[in-house]
Amino acid sequence: MKVIDLRSDTVTTPTEAMRKAMYDAEVGDDNAHEDPTVNHLEDLVCALLGKEAAILTASGTMSNLVAALAHTNRGDEVIMGSKAHMFWNEAGGVSTLGGVQVQLVPNDKGGRIDPADVEAAIRPDDVHAPRTSLVCLENTHNQCNGSVLTNEDMKAVADVAHAHGLPVHVDGARIFNAAVALEMPAHELCKDVDDVGFCLSKGLSAPVGSMLCGSADFIEEARRWRKIVGGSMRQAGVIAAAGVVAVETMIDRMVEDHAHARRLAEGLSHIPGINVDPDDFQTNIVFVGVDPNTGSTEEFTDRMKEEGVLTAYRGGGRFRLVTHREVGAEDIDTAVDRIAKVASEMRNAR
Ligand SMILES: Cc1ncc(COP(=O)(O)O)c(C=O)c1O
Repeated sequence: MKVIDLRSDTVTTPTEAMRKAMYDAEVGDDNAHEDPTVNHLEDLVCALLGKEAAILTASGTMSNLVAALAHTNRGDEVIMGSKAHMFWNEAGGVSTLGGVQVQLVPNDKGGRIDPADVEAAIRPDDVHAPRTSLVCLENTHNQCNGSVLTNEDMKAVADVAHAHGLPVHVDGARIFNAAVALEMPAHELCKDVDDVGFCLSKGLSAPVGSMLCGSADFIEEARRWRKIVGGSMRQAGVIAAAGVVAVETMIDRMVEDHAHARRLAEGLSHIPGINVDPDDFQTNIVFVGVDPNTGSTEEFTDRMKEEGVLTAYRGGGRFRLVTHREVGAEDIDTAVDRIAKVASEMRNAR
C-alpha cells in the first residue's frame, strides 16, 4: 500500500537538481559572510522580496526568533495574532531567550488581525507598562486554514504600527504560497512590511533552511543574534545551493499544490461524518472537522494511518492535511477514497 503523507509540506525531499547543486556548490565561511553560494542566495532572495538584505537561518523558527531578538529588548512586549505559529508552536522562544512577553490580539478566520485591536494593544509610555516594540503577522496563516493576507491586509496593520514607530515582522514561512495564490510578485505583497522570514524547506522542497529578509541595518543586527543563538554556519553554501534551486524552480509550481488542496477539499466535502467547506481554503492547507457522531479526531486519524493516509495537527475536533510536490492528483483521489472508507466504517460501528 502506498502511504500518502499529508502531514506537512516539510516532508518534501530535495530534488535531483538540488542534490547535484549541493554536491557542486562553491563554498566559503558564511560566518565571515564569505560563502559565495550563500551570498548568491541572499541576492536572489532580496530581489524576490524587495528587501535590502537577507540571511540564511537553520529554520523558520530561527528566523522568527532572530527577528524578534533583533527588534526587541528584555522586558518589551510583542503583539501577534491569537493563532500565531510564533505563539503556539515555537516553544516560547521569544519569551525564553528574548525576555519579552507576548500580547495576543484575535485572529479572524482569514488569519488577519484588526488594526484597531493592534492600536489598542500598543502600550502607553508609562512606567507600569512594558514597552511595545514589535508587531508580527503570519502569511499564509497556518492555523487559519492556510489563508492568505493580501497586501492591503498587511498594510493596514503596518500603517498603525509605523505610526507608533513599531516595525512589522512577517512570519512568511509560506509567503510564496500567498504570492502565488494572489498572482502577485512577493516583493509587491511585502512592500509595506519591514521584514519577512520564509522557509526553503516547506513547499519549496529544499532539505534545510529559511531566509530572513529586511533592511540592511536590521539584517546586520539579526546576524549578531543568529550568532548568539548558535545559528551561524560555516560552509553553508552546501545548504544554500539547494535553496537557490528552490527559489528558482519551485515557486511557480505551487499552483499545483493549491489545485490539489482544492481537489482534496472538494472530494472530502461529499463524505458524511466529516466537515469540510472547500471555499475555506486558498492554498495548500486543508483542515477537516470530524463530526462527534463519527468519533474522536484521534480515533479517526489513527484509523487513517492504518489506511495509509498520514495527517498532523489533530485536536480540537479537526485535523490538518497539507499538499506538496510529492503528492499528485491520483494520490489525492486515493486519499479521499481511504478517508471515505474510514468515515463510513466508524459511523457504521456506532
Ligand atoms: C507558519 C509557520 N511559521 C514557522 C514555522 C517554523 O518552521 P520550522 O519548522 O522550519 O522551524 C512553521 C512550521 O511549520 C510554520 O508553519
